[in-house]
Amino acid sequence: MKTTYLGHSCILIETKGKSLLFDPFISGNPFASNIDINELSPDYILISHAHQDHVLDVESIAKESGAKIISNYEIFSHYNAKGFEGHPLNHGGKAEFDFGTLKYVNAVHSSVFPDGTYGGNPGGFVLWNDEGCVYFAGDTALTMDMKLIPMLCPKVDLAILPIGDNFTMGYEEALLAAEFVNSDSILGCHFDTFGPIELKNKQEVINLFEQKGKTLHLPAIGNKIEW
Ligand code: NI
Ligand code: MN
Repeated sequence: MKTTYLGHSCILIETKGKSLLFDPFISGNPFASNIDINELSPDYILISHAHQDHVLDVESIAKESGAKIISNYEIFSHYNAKGFEGHPLNHGGKAEFDFGTLKYVNAVHSSVFPDGTYGGNPGGFVLWNDEGCVYFAGDTALTMDMKLIPMLCPKVDLAILPIGDNFTMGYEEALLAAEFVNSDSILGCHFDTFGPIELKNKQEVINLFEQKGKTLHLPAIGNKIEW
């Protein structure tokens, strides 16, 4: 699997010949001005919850690419009513796709569209196939439910976790989350985009993970990690 960090919580994963775009928020992110949303052309757009900093570019990218939208039932229905195709999931449910198995898991957060439309309950995703297993936590607090993931899914090779604090867990809790899901490799997200989630002392944070035998990746926006 190849993973490209597109800023904030937006991640592109390429696996089994398909490309999956998680939580597209690019055109509103001044740090991601090097990314052209028209060049992404994903096969699927996966949405963890309905907040603007996770859905801003969904419609324009889905229109351009014809990408199918996968999210909770309420978010899927919101886009389906506008003519977009896709697949609804809900918490605890998994389904088979042409890219592998996808499970929608619990997150502790909130979920409402920018215009006030109900966005269901927020979640995260676990994606696996014979190329590996990745956990995309979405916006969440640290939660004991994360301990269920190793019991229900294959070994997590990469955990994509929010580390910016204020609206989600901070990096100290993300380190515990990595232990809960039993992953040694972490891609940090949801930091620096706005003032309240600025991550200071990045090298110290990376060192803290290293002391616990874990690797925290903080790639530049647009950079790819292969694993
Ligand atoms: Ni949020
Ligand atoms: Mn957010």
